[in-house]
Amino acid sequence: MGIKFIFLAIFLSGALVLLARSEPSEDKQALLDFANNMYHSRPLNWDVRTSACNLWTGVTCNHDKSRIIAVRLPGFGFRGSVPSNTLARLSALQILSLRSNGFSGPFPSDLSKLGNLTSLYLQLNKFQGPLPQNFSVWENLSVINLSDNAFNGSIPASISNLTHLTALNLSNNSFSGEIPDLNVPSLQLLDLSNNNLTGNVPQSLTRFPNSAFSGNQLAPEVSSPPVVPPNEKPEKKSSRISEPAVLGIIIGGSSLGFVLIAVLLIICYSNKEAQPKAPKKPKKEVSLKREKKTISASQDGDGRLVFFENCNLAFDLEDLLRASAEVLGKGSFGTTYKAALEDGTTVAVKRLKEVSVGKREFELQMEAVGNVRHENVAQLRAYYYSKDEKLMVYDYYAQGSVSALLHAKMGEKRIPLDWESRVRIATGAARGITHIHSECGGKLVHGNMKASNIFLNSQQYGCVSDLGLATLITPIAPPVMRTAGYRAPEVTDSRKVSQASDVYSFGVLLLELLTGKSPIHATGGDEVIHLVRWVNSVVREEWTAEVFDVELLRFPNIEEEMVEMLRIGMTCVARMPEQRPKMSDVLKMVEDMRRVNTGNPPSTETRTEESTPAALTPIAADIASTSGQQ
Ligand SMILES: *[C@@H]1O[C@H](CO)[C@@H](O)[C@H](O)[C@H]1NC(C)=O
Ligand SMILES: *[C@@H]1O[C@H](CO)[C@@H](O)[C@H](O)[C@H]1NC(C)=O
Ligand SMILES: *[C@@H]1O[C@H](CO)[C@@H](O)[C@H](O)[C@H]1NC(C)=O
Ligand SMILES: *[C@@H]1O[C@H](CO)[C@@H](O)[C@H](O)[C@H]1NC(C)=O
Ligand SMILES: *[C@@H]1O[C@H](CO)[C@@H](O)[C@H](O)[C@H]1NC(C)=O
Ligand SMILES: *[C@@H]1O[C@H](CO)[C@@H](O)[C@H](O)[C@H]1NC(C)=O
Ligand SMILES: *[C@@H]1O[C@H](CO)[C@@H](O)[C@H](O)[C@H]1NC(C)=O
Ligand SMILES: *[C@@H]1O[C@H](CO)[C@@H](O)[C@H](O)[C@H]1NC(C)=O
Ligand SMILES: *[C@@H]1O[C@H](CO)[C@@H](O)[C@H](O)[C@H]1NC(C)=O
Repeated sequence: MGIKFIFLAIFLSGALVLLARSEPSEDKQALLDFANNMYHSRPLNWDVRTSACNLWTGVTCNHDKSRIIAVRLPGFGFRGSVPSNTLARLSALQILSLRSNGFSGPFPSDLSKLGNLTSLYLQLNKFQGPLPQNFSVWENLSVINLSDNAFNGSIPASISNLTHLTALNLSNNSFSGEIPDLNVPSLQLLDLSNNNLTGNVPQSLTRFPNSAFSGNQLAPEVSSPPVVPPNEKPEKKSSRISEPAVLGIIIGGSSLGFVLIAVLLIICYSNKEAQPKAPKKPKKEVSLKREKKTISASQDGDGRLVFFENCNLAFDLEDLLRASAEVLGKGSFGTTYKAALEDGTTVAVKRLKEVSVGKREFELQMEAVGNVRHENVAQLRAYYYSKDEKLMVYDYYAQGSVSALLHAKMGEKRIPLDWESRVRIATGAARGITHIHSECGGKLVHGNMKASNIFLNSQQYGCVSDLGLATLITPIAPPVMRTAGYRAPEVTDSRKVSQASDVYSFGVLLLELLTGKSPIHATGGDEVIHLVRWVNSVVREEWTAEVFDVELLRFPNIEEEMVEMLRIGMTCVARMPEQRPKMSDVLKMVEDMRRVNTGNPPSTETRTEESTPAALTPIAADIASTSGQQ
């Protein structure tokens, strides 16, 4: 052991020497000269003795670590004007983001030395005065975002010399004069809105929508007719329509509203057609007595309601069918109803569709599922099997699913989930799944982990439901399933779920809790985004607080835990199943995330400011390991 340690020490010191040798020391000094001459409210962990390429917040180096090629410093509370001859010395710089700070003063014109610059983000600052007239010096510039500043003067005509330009956002400044003829074929995104521009929209720019020019004093007759691209409207429409369809599974319960349905439908023979197409009727209770014929017909078959032991529910199928019911949600495996029995008991009844296995196999699986007893697993109370109907009876959770709690629309008496609640949800769900994975000789799989299948138990911890069904159900057409967003990439057939794919789905749940975003969601720009990919890209681009739900930013001193949860989530959604941790390890990580703070509850702890960037740095290190995977 001692020898091993020595070898390790030698290896490490060797690595450190190598590392030190390949440091871009001049670039480092340029950055330090910049930071030391600027006020910034968030501290930077830039230490001349540490590796800028590996450790410095917001800094990216090239492959051989000889140069700094990207500097991203969004939201660090910088104030004042950019000192000259600092950033301008980073001659290999390709990406510069100073957005969302309080920079003021003139455009840092010495950046014109940065010929390799491809992206310049200065938006959301207080820069003022005119732009440099000669943009031709940045021949490689492709994205320029100067929006939300106080730049004035004219828009430099030399921008038309930027042959690689793809996006130009000068919105919300005070530019005046006429719009130059920016004849740049590569330009795909243009926003000149909310300035003080006059004259006409040049012919070369009429391909951009009206909104690109709104909020100016442009001559109306020229700018209006040609600017609506012919097929933009229909495109938008179709993606708007398909988006709710895509999201249907996830937000079904909350967005469709509580549609009342007769429980008759549970038992009705013509199963598919009978499901109403979500009519938004007012809530109305329906007694099903009049449908007795159908019920008895069903009971004539081989069906019976099988209760699990220790179940104190006392009702029979007929009671159940007489109950008034409302749809709680439509999931991948069937529709769930809330059924209020005459004796005052309320249960959740899941009506499975497309069960592909025979009675014996179904019963065996129900026994396996029903015997899982854990405070973080929703107990299956009873099931029913007949040729035509398969029902499962669960406890009813009045608070609704985590999905409903997280994504309910504003104004629906919505209380945003605070951080403590989200941690309890994650911890409970992790305990539940870990327990499930230990059942049946370590073979049981949940198979359908998602926020709409998680409820809150009496201690307000997450409690997982709907386990063990994936193998019973006829696989559903892949397009629908893949869009569900929780499904691990290797699961192409909905029956081929595994404990590793459960871990993936749990990771997506963590990201959902952190971001407040659905696993599949639409961005402002009509695009449907896969949460895992989105988080990966944001973390890779800026790795800042940006991924986190804005509602969480109100709570003090939780960054470390959020960052740690993000790290755990990203570990779980590793692309290759064998790279994902075991659920028991995930549980340990989730619980350790808390344990760090048990002595100092986050709400009262006064943490030193240094902890923020330090806590955020590990993500930067994770990028390398995760970014290639999605
Ligand atoms: C600019 O980029 C090119 C190609 O990537 C590279 O050869 C050149 O060295 C870079 N310039 C500087 C100053 O680093
Ligand atoms: C623009 O990029 C190309 C290739 O990346 C590089 O060779 C060239 O030097 C860059 N231009 C300037 C002005 O640095
Ligand atoms: C702008 O800069 C380019 C490249 O540095 C140069 O060739 C050109 O003459 C300059 N134009 C003006 C008007 O200064
Ligand atoms: C420019 O910045 C604004 C504000 O951050 C952002 O909404 C917009 O997407 C950016 N545009 C481009 C082209 O990067
Ligand atoms: C430009 O930036 C503004 C905010 O600064 C943003 O609202 C707008 O969407 C951006 N325009 C485009 C086309 O991205
Ligand atoms: C424009 O920017 C100013 C600050 O520079 C800000 O107060 C204002 O809300 C912005 N307006 C729009 C429409 O983004
Ligand atoms: C631009 O703004 C500055 C003050 O910020 C002012 O002195 C100057 O006259 C303005 N220039 C134009 C062209 O409006
Ligand atoms: C475009 O670039 C050429 C050559 O670099 C330069 O002569 C010309 O002045 C530039 N055009 C503008 C409008 O700056
Ligand atoms: C826009 O221009 C008009 C006259 O050219 C000027 O009076 C006004 O102050 C300008 N507005 C802004 C916001 O710069």
